[in-house]
This record gives sequence, C-alpha cells and structure tokens, in this order.
Amino acid sequence: MDHLLLLLLLWSSGISERNQSSAEPDEVRLVGKASHCGGTLEIKHVREWTPVDFYNWTLKKAAVVCEHLDCGSAVSVQERKSPRRLVWSFRPDCFQSGSKLGDCLRLLPSTTMLNLTCLDSVRLLNSSSLCSGGLQVKSNQRWSSVCEADFDLQDAEVVCRELGCGPPSLLRGALYGEAEAPVWSREFQCGGHESALLDCRSSGSARSSCSPGKAAGLTCSEPVRLVGGASRCAGTLEVKHLGEWRPVDDNGWTMKPAAVVCEHLDCGSAVSVGLIFKSYGSVWRINPDCVQSGSPLRECAISWSSSSILDLTCSDSVRLLNGSSLCSGGLQVKSNQRWSSVCEADFDLQDAEVVCRELGCGPPSLLRGALYGEAEAPVWSREFQCGGHESALLDCRSSGSARSSCSPG
Ligand SMILES: *[C@@H]1O[C@H](CO)[C@@H](O)[C@H](O)[C@H]1NC(C)=O
Ligand SMILES: *[C@@H]1O[C@H](CO)[C@@H](O)[C@H](O)[C@H]1NC(C)=O
Ligand SMILES: *[C@@H]1O[C@H](CO)[C@@H](O)[C@H](O)[C@H]1NC(C)=O
Ligand SMILES: *[C@@H]1O[C@H](CO)[C@@H](O)[C@H](O)[C@H]1NC(C)=O
Ligand SMILES: *[C@@H]1O[C@H](CO)[C@@H](O)[C@H](O)[C@H]1NC(C)=O
Repeated sequence: MDHLLLLLLLWSSGISERNQSSAEPDEVRLVGKASHCGGTLEIKHVREWTPVDFYNWTLKKAAVVCEHLDCGSAVSVQERKSPRRLVWSFRPDCFQSGSKLGDCLRLLPSTTMLNLTCLDSVRLLNSSSLCSGGLQVKSNQRWSSVCEADFDLQDAEVVCRELGCGPPSLLRGALYGEAEAPVWSREFQCGGHESALLDCRSSGSARSSCSPGKAAGLTCSEPVRLVGGASRCAGTLEVKHLGEWRPVDDNGWTMKPAAVVCEHLDCGSAVSVGLIFKSYGSVWRINPDCVQSGSPLRECAISWSSSSILDLTCSDSVRLLNGSSLCSGGLQVKSNQRWSSVCEADFDLQDAEVVCRELGCGPPSLLRGALYGEAEAPVWSREFQCGGHESALLDCRSSGSARSSCSPG
C-alpha cells in the first residue's frame, strides 16, 4: 500500500501520533449523498470536518477509503468545483520514514474538492485489481460470498459493467480463494443488460456453503485499448473511466511502462512510445511508476488536461521472453491468437535480423539455444527462411518443419 493510504488509514482509525494532542480520534466520511458510501470526502481534525482537495486523487487511493468505510469497491473519483476555500491537501514529499502524520496534511486554498463513489453492493476480493477477484454481494449490511453454480457469464457481464471494468474475460471457481461464510443463497438470473447485479432476477438456491473450489471468482478485462493504428496493438493509448474513453497524456512514459501495456493487451513487445500533439482537453494522466508497480492503468489515472498524448506501438506477433531487456529473450511468435515458441533449428541469423529490426533493436549479437529457458508448448512448426530485409518475421517465407517440440537446449 502507498504510504499516503496507510497514513490516511492510521489517521482515520485514531492511532496516529496526532491523537496524542487531540482529544477526539480523527475520522473520514463521505457526505452529501443519500448513502454514506458516496459524496464529498471529509477528514476531521480537531473537531472540524474539512473536505479534501481533488488534486492527484486516483481510484487506487479511493479504494482504500471505500474499503475502510466498508463500502465495497471504488468506482469513481470526481472533481467538485467550489468557491475558493481551505481544503486538506496531501504533501507529496512528507511520506518518508520519521515524518509526522500531521505534517502530511495541510490546509491550502483551492477551488476543487473530491467526490468519491463506492459501490456498496458488489465487490471483488483478493486480487491486485478492482476488476478481478472473489465475488461478494452485500445485503442487510452483510457481505456474502457467491458460489460458482449460482453465477454465470451473463451475471458476470452485469458485475463487470457495474464496476466500470471491461467485459468478463475469465470466470472460474476459487480463482481468488475459497468462499467465506456467509454464502449467498440465491441463483442470479441476469439477462446481461441490467445495470446492477442486485437488480437481476434470482431464484432460491438454498445453499449455505460452496463446496471446495466452487467460490465464484471473476476476472473482468481492464478497460484499456490502443486505437487508430494499423492493428489493435498500435495507436493512441486510451483508458475508460466513468464511462468515458480518453487518451493518456505524456508524463515521462518510457518503454518500460509501455511494455506493461503491450503485455497486458497480449500484444508482444513494446516497440515505440510516441507523442501526438493536438488540442485534446480532457485526458488521463497516468504516473508510469504506478503502472510499473503492477497497478491497472484505470486505478492510476488522474483527470487532467493536456495537448500531448501517448501513441504506442507493440510488436503484435513477435516477442522475446525472460530476457533482461526488451531486445533479448526466448523467441515466441503469435498466430491465431496463440503464442508459440520457436526451435533453434528453424531460425537462423537472417531471421534474427528481421526480428531485431521489427522490435526496434540493433542488429543481432547472439543467437543460441536455451539461453533464456526451454521452449514452452506449443512449438512453431515451420522453418523461417527470411532474406534478412523483410520488415516482419511473419512476412518471411517459411517451410513446414513438422516439429511439435524442441529438444532440450
Ligand atoms: C491514541 O490512540 C491509541 C491507540 O489506538 C489509544 O490507545 C489512545 O487512547 C489514543 N489517545 C487519545 C488521546 O485518543
Ligand atoms: C459531489 O457531491 C455532492 C454531495 O456532497 C453533490 O451535491 C455534487 O453534485 C457532487 N458533484 C459531482 C461533480 O459529483
Ligand atoms: C501524487 O500522488 C503520488 C502517489 O501518492 C505521489 O507519488 C506523487 O508525488 C503525488 N504528486 C504530487 C504532485 O503531489
Ligand atoms: C480471500 O482469500 C482468503 C485467504 O487467502 C480466503 O480465506 C477468502 O475466502 C478469500 N475471499 C474470497 C471472496 O475469495
Ligand atoms: C521463460 O522461463 C521459464 C522458466 O524460467 C520457462 O519455463 C519458459 O519456457 C521460458 N520462456 C521462453 C520463451 O524461453
């Protein structure tokens, strides 16, 4: 967890150093909406409730607040305009060890406040993303796990949409742990177009536990895409949040975070990170460190306005695995949506020249069997016969080699 979040939690649970000097525990709340799980975020300090500045808030930070309030999953972070007033602002530089919590929050004048919305009826637990995990639903103030048998793909579509994620990509029992008691005792019967799981029809299933391995575990796809390029693996990077696809601005992005995006889209290696200058207005600003730490793009996004946006190219059909850089590794090629390893005997230096060029690297410097691990099945069953000047490996001539595995090494 990020230091800021940890501090916020300590602050809100009253065990901060600051509580020595104030009589009441400090607190956190959401106000102004019918439910206590949505509204303007306020933090109490020395008997005064004060809103928090919108600046630099991500869904990842909001998730900690929602969880702390037992409000399920974070679904939105919004800017609330207000006349200029004093609000809490978090200092970016105060989270080193030894800094006092009180030093992290300061009152500064601002014209924006933070609105948070948590989804108080459905959540996915035990994963590193808000878009995947073990399913739980809340009713009568109590969270219940759901058994696989009571939840199908149409139900999953509703949950993924409700959470603001992409469509479901995997639905499997116990993928994120076993069901905890209590267990939901109805079978969901969604049509798929409902806007909330608890709006779906359901019928009694009289279950009181799920058998081992049968807790509903769901993975929704992350709402990330590349648009306007030659394939789905190249173009302007866009992220959907609050129902809106927006481009991502340049914020010191290098090939490393780009590689995370390419891999996430199952698009091979990152080949280039470019910029497009245009008047865009609203974009997402995404901290590359947040992406490299393994957080989904959507959870790292801050609303921003900018006129330079990211354009990424991934290699699409070729990748190098297990290497220490984007220019080395065990070779794999993709066809029919499937990655295959390649045997040394089917690949020579001229073929390597094409791959290195395709990946935007310099000429090949070493080509040797099993340098980066053994081949994983499936294995590519053609011998590449590149002339060396083709622009992509899959454009080269090839002949059948009828191999179904590479011998060791
Ligand atoms: C400060 O927090 C500690 C730990 O929760 C608690 O035991 C103590 O009573 C608190 N002090 C005050 C003054 O609230
Ligand atoms: C923010 O929340 C307040 C309630 O605290 C509400 O009145 C306002 O409409 C919300 N604004 C936005 C932009 O969500
Ligand atoms: C924004 O938040 C992140 C994560 O908490 C932090 O690392 C960064 O320094 C903050 N940026 C600013 C300008 O406050
Ligand atoms: C989360 O994981 C813990 C153990 O790691 C498990 O006890 C719990 O049932 C899991 N929750 C869900 C909803 O899958
Ligand atoms: C990568 O390494 C793992 C084990 O470290 C191995 O199983 C796998 O086959 C390797 N992949 C390639 C393409 O070399």
